[in-house]
Amino acid sequence: MSRTFKNLLVTGGAGFIGSNMIRYLFERSGFEGRVINLDALTYAGNLESLAEIEDRFGAGAGSGRRYFFEKADICDRAAVERVFAEYAIDAVCHLAAESHVDRSIHGPEAFIRTNVMGTFTLLDVARNAWRGRDDVLFHHVSTDEVFGSLGDTGYFTETTPYDPRSPYSASKASSDHLVMAYHHTYGLPVTLSNCSNNYGPYQFPEKLIPLMVLNMLEGKSLPVYGDGKNIRDWVYVEDHNAAVWSVMRNGRSGQTYNIGGENEWENIKLLSVLIEKVAEATGKPASDYEKLIHYVADRPGHDRRYAIDCSKIKTELGWKQDHDFASGLEKTVAWNLEHKDWIDHIRSGDYKQWVEKNYAKR
Ligand code: NAD
Ligand code: DAU
Repeated sequence: MSRTFKNLLVTGGAGFIGSNMIRYLFERSGFEGRVINLDALTYAGNLESLAEIEDRFGAGAGSGRRYFFEKADICDRAAVERVFAEYAIDAVCHLAAESHVDRSIHGPEAFIRTNVMGTFTLLDVARNAWRGRDDVLFHHVSTDEVFGSLGDTGYFTETTPYDPRSPYSASKASSDHLVMAYHHTYGLPVTLSNCSNNYGPYQFPEKLIPLMVLNMLEGKSLPVYGDGKNIRDWVYVEDHNAAVWSVMRNGRSGQTYNIGGENEWENIKLLSVLIEKVAEATGKPASDYEKLIHYVADRPGHDRRYAIDCSKIKTELGWKQDHDFASGLEKTVAWNLEHKDWIDHIRSGDYKQWVEKNYAKR
C-alpha cells in the first residue's frame, strides 16, 4: 500500500529542483497535505520561483492554507527542531545542498558544512522527533556523481561502488552514507535516490544549459571545458520529481533508486542542439551563436562520463520519463527567454562577484 503523509518538509524548496518539486506536489502529485519549505536562501535560492504557489496555497489561501515557508539553515539544529515540532512533520524530502561542482573546487568548506553537517542535523532531529515511528519517511535526494566516472561503456547501477571525485560528490556521498547509517543503526525509515543531470525551468544560470542559453542571448562566449567530449545523461526536472515522489510513496525503506534520462550527450553535441533551439526561438542564424564557442581549460578532476541504469525504478515502481529531450529543451529555452526578471534578480547578488573572482581571467 502507498505511503501517505500529512506534513511534508521540503528542504531546499527555493532552489531549482526543490521549487519544481513543490509545484509538482501541488499541481500533479495528488498530495493533499501541507508542504513546509525550509530554505536558507543562499545565492541559489529564490522565492520568486514559488510566487504563484504562495498566492494559491500560502497565506493567500486563508484557512485552506497548505504551503508554508521557513527561512532557516539545515545546520541550525534549534530551528530544524522547532519546524519539526510546530508542523508535526511526518515526511522529509531533503534537497537542500550546495550543488555546483565548480564552486566546490573553489570553496569546498560550504559543501562539507551544508551537505554533510546539514544532512546529519536533519537526520538526527528526525530520529529524535519520530522515535521509532514507522509511518514516517526521510527521503534523501542525491546524485549519480557519487559513483565516479565511467569509461566509454557501462552504466551506474544501485550496486556500483561509490567513488566520488570532487568535493561536491564526496560531500554528497558522505551524506548518502549517513542516511543509510541512520536506517541501519537507528531504524529510521529512509529512501534514497541518485539522479543524473537535471534541466528545465528555474535552474540557476551557472549550470551548463541555462548558462549557455543566456550567454547566447547576451552575445557572450560559450565556455566549453576541455575537449567538450565529456558525457552527461540529461533528465527533465519534472520527470526527476515524479520519480522522487514515486519512491517516497512506494519505494522500499532502506533502498536506493537510480533515476536518469537514458539520454546521453557529449557536451559539445548538446551545445549544437541547444544552439539550433535558441536560433529557432530568436530567429537568428545558428552561425551567430556557433562563433561564440570557446574551448577553455578543463575542470580539474572532470568526470568523463555519467550514464544511469534506471531499470530498478522502472520495474519496481513503474516510473518512466515523460519528456523527450527535444521538447524538454524547447520548453527550457522558451522559459529562459520569457523570464528575464527572474534571471536578472537571481544573478544580481553573490553570483556576479563569484564569477568575477573565479573566472575573470578565462
Ligand atoms: P540548487 O543549488 O538550485 O538549490 C539548492 C537550494 O538549497 C537553494 O534553494 C539553497 O538556498 C538551499 N540551501 C543551500 N544551503 C542550505 C542550507 N545550509 N540550509 C537550507 N537551505 C540551503 O540545487 P538543485 O540543483 O536544485 O539540487 C537540489 C538537490 O538535488 C541537491 O541535493 C543536489 O545534490 C541534488 N541533485 C541535483 C541534480 C542537478 O542536476 N541539479 C542532479 C541530481 C541530484
Ligand atoms: O550528475 C548530476 C549532477 O549534475 C548534479 O549532482 C549537480 O548538482 C549538477 O550541478 C550537475 O553537475 P555537472 O557538473 O554535471 O553539471 P554542470 O552543468 O556544471 O556541467 C555539465 C557538463 O558541462 C560538465 O561536463 C561540465 C561542462 N561545462 C559546464 C559549464 C558550467 C562546460 O563545458 N562549460 C561550462 O561553462
